[in-house]
Amino acid sequence: MSNPGKPFGQTPAGESVTLYTLKNAKGMEVRIMNYGGIIQKILTPDRNGKLEDVVLGFETLQEYIKDTPYFGAIVGRFGNRIANGKFTLDGKEYTLAAQNNGQHLHGGLIGFDKKVWKVEAASAQSLSLSYVSKDMEEGFPGNLSIKMTYTLSEDNEISVAYEATTDKATVLNLSNHSYFNLSGNAKRDILNQEVQIDASRLVAVNKVLIPTGELTPVNGTPFDFTKPHVVGDRINDTSSEQIVLGGGYDHCWALDKPAGSYAKMATVYEPVSGRKMTVSTDQPGVQFYTGNFLDGHLTGKYGVQITKRHGLCLETEHFPDSPNQPNFPSTVLRPGEVYKTKTAYKFSVN
Ligand code: BGC
Repeated sequence: MSNPGKPFGQTPAGESVTLYTLKNAKGMEVRIMNYGGIIQKILTPDRNGKLEDVVLGFETLQEYIKDTPYFGAIVGRFGNRIANGKFTLDGKEYTLAAQNNGQHLHGGLIGFDKKVWKVEAASAQSLSLSYVSKDMEEGFPGNLSIKMTYTLSEDNEISVAYEATTDKATVLNLSNHSYFNLSGNAKRDILNQEVQIDASRLVAVNKVLIPTGELTPVNGTPFDFTKPHVVGDRINDTSSEQIVLGGGYDHCWALDKPAGSYAKMATVYEPVSGRKMTVSTDQPGVQFYTGNFLDGHLTGKYGVQITKRHGLCLETEHFPDSPNQPNFPSTVLRPGEVYKTKTAYKFSVN
């Protein structure tokens, strides 16, 4: 069954944006727009069956265009940071926007989160979008063609699948930047939520949040989420240098699962509502970010002021700065290769 979506406004350049509602028989609902591939809303039940929204965002397109910390968006061409906005590929140096503390972040000034994607297909439970990023767009080489599909399953799982090809060697690291808050309608911050991550090593960072190149053991540190931990318990433990550098959690964990394998790797649980989210991916890492830079200047849906730690991200990805880190799994995509990756967020109650 085809899904026409609803007009959601226009960009300043006059491009029309459509908002699609995916819905399953259990009543779970996901709203996604073709601007930035942004997940605008996820309505999922608490333990009493009450449907509430579990992601941060806005009610209108104009608010997303004006100022957003990547709420719900697809980030790319390269998710997270590249040191000094420079990398060398096949002997050639490329210069990117270095808009975050002198570092490149999330694809540059006009990343994939700010592009209007083409709608390839929309049905009651899935939406396929495509985007062609031109050679040297934001400084990245190669014409890159991306197709991605969001699917809502009958068992309350949202999967995000990406495919891409290029006509010149390039680097690529796509991720979804949803800020989850399982309390429902963002009514509380995320400090009481319990997180578990199947990762025994952390991608350690320096003071501008660029990886040092070292993968350090989480054992005995506030970064050990191999067993579930309440987020707020150790987030201000300033005896940990990495906590101080990140202003809390803003790091990539190196997942324990075998390279390239698709597996469940993280859970989040909110004890008051009983909502639980289980994350699976085939990516080697996950950037767990606790909204440390949210400073209260934005008001989101439900009139909620978005203050520090009001949402948490689990951005499945390759490690930040991989293009400059020969020991990290490669993010290079060459002509003739197909980039293919999948992540899923499953919602349940406990
Ligand atoms: C980064 C944070 C950044 C946030 C929003 C995360 O992926 O690691 O440092 O503030 O995205 O841009």
